[in-house]
Amino acid sequence: MARRRTFAIISHPDAGKSTMTEALALHARMISEAGAIHGKAGRRSTVSDWMEMEKARGISVSSTALQFNYRLEGDDVVNVINLVDTPGHADFSEDTYRVLTAVDAAVMLIDAAKGLEPQTLKLFQVCRHRGIPIITIINKWDRPGQTPLELIDEITERIGLTPTPLYFPVGIAGDFRGLLDRRTGEYIRFTRTAGGATIAPEERLSPDAALAKEGDEWTTAVEESELLTAMGQDHDQEMFLAGQTSPMIFASAMLNFGVRQLLSTLVELAPPPEGRTSIDDTVREVTDPFSAVVFKVQAGMDSSHRDRLAYMRIVSGEFERGMVVTHAQTGKPFATKYAQAVFGRDRSTVDTAYPGDVVGLVNAMALAPGDTLFTDVKVQYPPIPSFAPEHFSICRADSAGKYKQFRKAIDQLDSEGVVQVLRNEIRGDAAPVLAAVGPMQFEVVTARMKTEFGVDARFEPLPYTLARRTDETSVDELNRQRGVEVFTRSDGALLALVSDKWRLQYIEKEHADLTLEPLVAAAD
Ligand code: G4P
Repeated sequence: MARRRTFAIISHPDAGKSTMTEALALHARMISEAGAIHGKAGRRSTVSDWMEMEKARGISVSSTALQFNYRLEGDDVVNVINLVDTPGHADFSEDTYRVLTAVDAAVMLIDAAKGLEPQTLKLFQVCRHRGIPIITIINKWDRPGQTPLELIDEITERIGLTPTPLYFPVGIAGDFRGLLDRRTGEYIRFTRTAGGATIAPEERLSPDAALAKEGDEWTTAVEESELLTAMGQDHDQEMFLAGQTSPMIFASAMLNFGVRQLLSTLVELAPPPEGRTSIDDTVREVTDPFSAVVFKVQAGMDSSHRDRLAYMRIVSGEFERGMVVTHAQTGKPFATKYAQAVFGRDRSTVDTAYPGDVVGLVNAMALAPGDTLFTDVKVQYPPIPSFAPEHFSICRADSAGKYKQFRKAIDQLDSEGVVQVLRNEIRGDAAPVLAAVGPMQFEVVTARMKTEFGVDARFEPLPYTLARRTDETSVDELNRQRGVEVFTRSDGALLALVSDKWRLQYIEKEHADLTLEPLVAAAD
């Protein structure tokens, strides 16, 4: 278990997450040539083609896990790396956030030319909320971009995370020659390979040899690195684990530069799986009997039958396929005959798995995100928080005759966490308000209502853009405000929907006594 590392890459679309995933797998020698996971031509469509909608739009709705082995140079120990994939597209959903509850560390991948972008910021907020340590990669250093110190400043100032570069670039963005290893002072010089399709050879040089080879480029890197040291920006393991600093690596996923450095940083610095606290405040250690948390449920993958795959992250103990586990929420047994590892299109049967690993369970009709599975002594972990929705729509069945199926569908999709369902007395129950983190969640609802329940759903967007948690004493006053409406979410939380942030600011100023708390992962 101590050899396992489970992480996710958080990034904005196009920063290079797929390319980096390939490069990591290439380095781990899981595949011989980059391109095997996401073939260049059909990259988007090969990631997952489960839902018709995905195919039509060429995007991935699913989150999956890639596992590979990695051995540090000169070391006999094999480390097991689990990369849990977050859908990396502009349309994202609550699932994107939920994945982050299943990992022990995150790699924040930033495009050197673009710096911090909106989706990275949102995902970062969730990592910060959960206290997940973050490793920062500045990608695309082979292309013109900002200077290292500009990027470091931007991250420090905008999100209050202090980068502590481990590997500093030699050569400006667009002229990537190699990396200064700030902990040893050595130079790692890269050689390009054709199209970046194979591992880039690297050579280690002493500072003197580096100076002779690279001249001013080397001197600049050394001087800037010394500046960072003077400002206290050297790696500190405790501060990293506390989420205050972030080891940083400059890289080019496309050229395979800096990729080995990322793998060794994950193995050397990222935390191994740890025990988890249950709702009764006891801690289940990784060595205790089996337990796991479901963090995502995928349905409608196969149109020929109703199929549901639940992804669980193992928290403690050893998992063996076929063992019967207990579902903590219902107390019912669950047989794990069909346990799978899933990445992209490939599914393979899993026989054993350990804390930190992700396993997909087929036919998991009763399992929902946040549920606990265990053997022996009962354990139940706290639920996954609902994230701040930003899109709100009234949902109706197109035909009144289908009302019963419509209700059933809403309850089912609600229990699976596909969307959040909101109600209030004024609007009644016939047409509930659905709330989502990303608009794509509504499309999933439409598709599943049709295929699984035979109901045509209609959506009518509401003019709200943000939600705040409120309480009973504030409800009446809030409902009197223009551009505000209060709802009860199915988990019992009272949510005030507000038209825009200016309206919210106004109310907060005029009625300081009202409760309006941000939910997790509010946009800013
Ligand atoms: P994503 O999964 O984060 O959305 O990004 P993806 O890996 O698909 O990369 C987005 C684009 O950026 C791709 O170009 C990819 O080749 C390019 N890219 C990724 N990493 C690097 C890098 O280190 N250096 C450079 N120069 N480019 C990089 P594309 O034109 O959209 O696709 P393609 O024609 O290259 O396949």
